[in-house]
Amino acid sequence: MDTNLRPLLINGFMATGKSALAQVVAERTGRPCVDLDARVVQRIGMPIAEYFSLHGEASFRVVEREELFRVLDHWRAEFAAAPVCALGGGALLHRPTRLRALRQAVVISLEASLETVLARAAREGGRPLLDGRPTSVLADLMEQRRPAYQEANALLDTDTRSLGELGDTAIQVWNRNAVVVATSGHTYLVEVGGGRVEECLPALVSGTSGLLLVSDQTVHGLYGGRLESVLAATGAPTASVVLTPGEQAKNLASIQAIYQVALERSLDRKGSFVALGGGVVTDMTGFAAASWLRGVRWVGVASTLLAMVDASVGGKTGVDFGPAKNSVGAFWQPSGVVCETDFIKTESERAYRGALAEVVKTALIGDAELFDLLESRSADVLARDPNTVTEMVHRSVALKAWVVGTDERESGIRAWLNLGHTIGHALEAHGDYTRLTHGEAVSLGLVAALRVGERLGETPPHLTERVVALLRRLGLPCSLAGEPLAEAAALLGHDKKRAGSKLRFVLARDVGSVTLSDLDLALVKDHARQLAS
Ligand SMILES: NC(=O)c1ccc[n+]([C@@H]2O[C@H](COP(=O)([O-])OP(=O)(O)OC[C@H]3O[C@@H](n4cnc5c(N)ncnc54)[C@H](O)[C@@H]3O)[C@@H](O)[C@H]2O)c1
Ligand SMILES: [Zn+2]
Repeated sequence: MDTNLRPLLINGFMATGKSALAQVVAERTGRPCVDLDARVVQRIGMPIAEYFSLHGEASFRVVEREELFRVLDHWRAEFAAAPVCALGGGALLHRPTRLRALRQAVVISLEASLETVLARAAREGGRPLLDGRPTSVLADLMEQRRPAYQEANALLDTDTRSLGELGDTAIQVWNRNAVVVATSGHTYLVEVGGGRVEECLPALVSGTSGLLLVSDQTVHGLYGGRLESVLAATGAPTASVVLTPGEQAKNLASIQAIYQVALERSLDRKGSFVALGGGVVTDMTGFAAASWLRGVRWVGVASTLLAMVDASVGGKTGVDFGPAKNSVGAFWQPSGVVCETDFIKTESERAYRGALAEVVKTALIGDAELFDLLESRSADVLARDPNTVTEMVHRSVALKAWVVGTDERESGIRAWLNLGHTIGHALEAHGDYTRLTHGEAVSLGLVAALRVGERLGETPPHLTERVVALLRRLGLPCSLAGEPLAEAAALLGHDKKRAGSKLRFVLARDVGSVTLSDLDLALVKDHARQLAS
């Protein structure tokens, strides 16, 4: 567990007690304490107020950001354990910086009432943003900054709690190490680990008027009882809907079955849906929640590796309709997701390995350490060692959360997630979604994308070799010889990512470095055809 621990950043408005809390947490945990302002002062060689008046706030923020990134990127070289770090109140206001902090650390924001802030600041003095400003300006500033502070693992009110209580909560939040998914106007946590259902689910469904647990027969048979007893203990009336397992049941009839029980149980606007299962169940439950009474809350409890590393982030919900997958749906974010890694042990070998192709893709997009983990601990990965699975899921979710938070509207880097999926989807569709699992198709699609990248001079051949060796070690298909690439190429124009005669294609340059390229559809088809030989 401790190997996964990331630094803790204490963020929040000025004079909310960030440094004092950081010290308490450091003392109680025996972990190092860092004060970001103190590091910045040391670097600039003068008090912050003086630097502000000489060089302005923008210049200060640049230095502050550099110091923060130094802590986030290099803390292992400086400290024996992950540190707790008190930030200046403006350090995470720049959203890209905040998203990077959320990816690499646990972030707690402190808030207090205007009266408390004024009283504390008057006692302490020396606050450049406070000097001489009328109270109303300060109140506006607090209001303006609040949405930024809300994008955090926890937002703690310091008015009503003692430092000791705040310390206890902060340590709990830190050790829990949830991943924050921050999308516009809605922030939620993905909890990853064994025993998280008991630890986290009650809080996620608290305050609901009624609960509807949605699962499929297989998963309900295995874990339904465990979930039902956790939900029953919350005191909220709970009903269960058990659907037929599999993609064939990902349809409007299943949605209707969910609505029917919601109707019978008079589930109102304050009710919540809880999805227990793989991506089929979580996609459908999310869609039912999006549309029931024009939208109620829902919580995902992911039971497959794919549902954890992929479906848990992004808010895509829906069902299949007609020949197309996921053609009816909505974006509807959950209130939280629990990736209960205990459940992974019963997943089928083929499904588990398939999902590993998505993990390899994620690592290739932006996490060299995850790639190293997959390479150096592939036996533990295949044996589903609990700590290895937790670390692998945690890293995958954090990367996807960063990508989605950065590009919610799918106009830029979110397209990176499509690496390996263009030719992969074509092979999957050509095999009528039965010959290959999605993961197997992605594995072949990754190899194909790397080979296309080589032909275009973007992908070094040694990268392809490295990825192929890893996929092979993980038991995934990686030989294109004999694959029906010519036939599959004919399906390429049907890809959602097409724009006119161009295809948005993701090319890999290195582990952690990919690029988007608008390629001629005809060119990609040509390349794809030639890859089989
Ligand atoms: N929303 C998104 O962003 C997103 C992302 C990726 C995939 N998806 C969707 O996810 C679906 C695929 O997900 P999936 O592979 O999890 O499929 P799934 O939900 O059908 O689960 C696969 C099978 O495994 C069984 N199962 C689930 N958990 C188990 C466990 N712990 N032990 C034993 N058996 C278990 C299920 O009953 C089912 O038969 C697709 O429909 C896809 O569209 C959505
Ligand atoms: Zn995929």
